Amino acid sequence: MKRHLVSAADLSRDDALLILDTAEELAQLSGRAVKKLPTLRGRTVVNLFFEDSTRTKTSFEVAEKRLSADVINFSAKGSSVSKGESLKDTALTLQAMGADAVVIRHHASGAPARLAQSDWLHGSVINAGDGTHEHPTQALLDAFTMRRHLNPGGGNDLAGRRVTLVGDVLHSRVARSNVHLLNTLGAQVTFVAPPTLLPIGIENWPCEISYDLDSVLPKTDALMMLRVQRERMNAAFFPTEREYSRRYGMNGRRMAQLPDRAIVMHPGPMVRGMEITAEVADSPRCTAIEQVANGVSVRMAVLYLLLGGAVFADAPTDAPRTDSVETAK
Ligand code: NCD
Repeated sequence: MKRHLVSAADLSRDDALLILDTAEELAQLSGRAVKKLPTLRGRTVVNLFFEDSTRTKTSFEVAEKRLSADVINFSAKGSSVSKGESLKDTALTLQAMGADAVVIRHHASGAPARLAQSDWLHGSVINAGDGTHEHPTQALLDAFTMRRHLNPGGGNDLAGRRVTLVGDVLHSRVARSNVHLLNTLGAQVTFVAPPTLLPIGIENWPCEISYDLDSVLPKTDALMMLRVQRERMNAAFFPTEREYSRRYGMNGRRMAQLPDRAIVMHPGPMVRGMEITAEVADSPRCTAIEQVANGVSVRMAVLYLLLGGAVFADAPTDAPRTDSVETAK
C-alpha cells in the first residue's frame, strides 16, 4: 500500500480488497450505540477543501471523528487562500501545525499529486476529488456498494460484473477513478454518453463505449448515472436538457429494462429531472443514499490503513506499525 491515495490506479487488487474488507468490518460500528474507535487518538487530520462539497466533506469528517482523530476543517472561502496564498504556503502552514494527513479537494486536476510529491507535508495525502481528474474514495465506496449488492453470497471482487456509467464522462473524476478500480477488480465497464461528453483518447481506456442506453440496459448489473457538470462547461455540449434526458436520462421505463437484481447508482448531487427522474431516484433500486453511508465506512478504512494500520511500500523511516481492527478496538 502506498503512503498517499491520489489515484485509484495507486491501488493494487490486494490493496483495494484490503480497504473494502476493512470497511466491511468497520461498517459494523455504525449499528452500535457508541460509534467510536480510539485508533487515531492524538492524530491530526486536515480537511482542505478548495471546492464545494456536501457528501465527501461531511463523510470524511464523520469518518475521522469515529476514529477519534483531531479534525481541522479548512475551506478556501474564509481562509487566506482568498487573499492569494498559494497551495505551497497553505501546505507548509498545515505541516507546521502538525497535520498527520491532509484530505484535499481542489478545482485543479493534479493538486493532490503536487502535494504528495512535495516535501511540504510529511503525512499522507488523500485525494477527495481534483478537477476532472480523480476521486478514488468515491470509486472505493461505489465498489463497496456493488460488492454488497452483486455478491450477496460473499465473493471478493467484481469479476465479470457489468458496470455501465452514463452521462458526462468528460468532466467526471468519478468516472476516471471508477474505470481504474473496476478494472483492477475485474469488472467490465461500459460508458454511455453523447460523443461531445467523452474525453479525447477514451478509445485507449479499458472500457466499451455505446451511444445507445436502451441497448446496454439489459446487459448491466450496476448502472451509474453521472451528473452533467455545468460548472465545468464553457460551451454547449448538447442541444437542450430535454434532448439530453430523452437520450441519456434514467426513467421508470428504462429501469424496467434492467435485469432484476441490477442497481441504479449515483454519486450525488443528483439533478432530478435531468439525468434521473424522481421515480428512479426514490425507488428501492437506487443506492444513492446507501452510497453515502458506505462512504463513511470506506473513508474510515482508508484513514485507518494510511494512518494507523499499514506498512507502506514507499514508507519514510518512521513507518506506522501493522495492527488489526480487532486490536485497535
Ligand atoms: C461528485 C464529485 O464531486 O466529483 N460528487 C461526489 O463527490 N459525491 C460528482 C459530481 O459532482 O457530480
